[in-house]
Amino acid sequence: MLCKPLEKALNEQIKNELYSSYLYLAMSSWFSANDLKGMAQWMLIQAKEEDLHAMKFFDYVLEHGNRVDLKALDQPPSEFKSPLDIFEQAYRHEQKVTKNIRDLVSLAREHNDHATESFLAWYSLEQVEEEASADDVVQQLKLVGDKGNGLLMLDRLLGQRVFVPPAAEGAA
Ligand SMILES: [Fe+2]
Ligand SMILES: [Fe+2]
Repeated sequence: MLCKPLEKALNEQIKNELYSSYLYLAMSSWFSANDLKGMAQWMLIQAKEEDLHAMKFFDYVLEHGNRVDLKALDQPPSEFKSPLDIFEQAYRHEQKVTKNIRDLVSLAREHNDHATESFLAWYSLEQVEEEASADDVVQQLKLVGDKGNGLLMLDRLLGQRVFVPPAAEGAA
């Protein structure tokens, strides 16, 4: 069994991951509405990954015989200023999630929960990638100036992203 404080915190993180998915879906739909199909696809894959992050926590809590207690999700924004605005928000969001994961690691340590600490190691590494991939796009958008031919080329490039289930990358 997980101790109560960790049960509570992991349930909170299920919500955070599902909110991430919701946020990226909102961003994907903005891109679709603005004819940037590649970026819409990139965000759709991002949302799917967040669903899987949530499900890993979900399974982990249940595996311990603890309770999953699903919380209400906040409404994500629906209006954005530009592609750059979206990717900057995505980057800032990932920084927040990184802090959530760090706090979870601290809590696991505080409660001597070594299993949870090593379970969280996957998320700690994943967050390095998550921040880097959002920031990469921010930097590229700054280079191309957020419009014109450069934007269309970047859109095409980002549209090549394919969904890789975690099991296939060795993180079941
Ligand atoms: Fe996540
Ligand atoms: Fe993420």
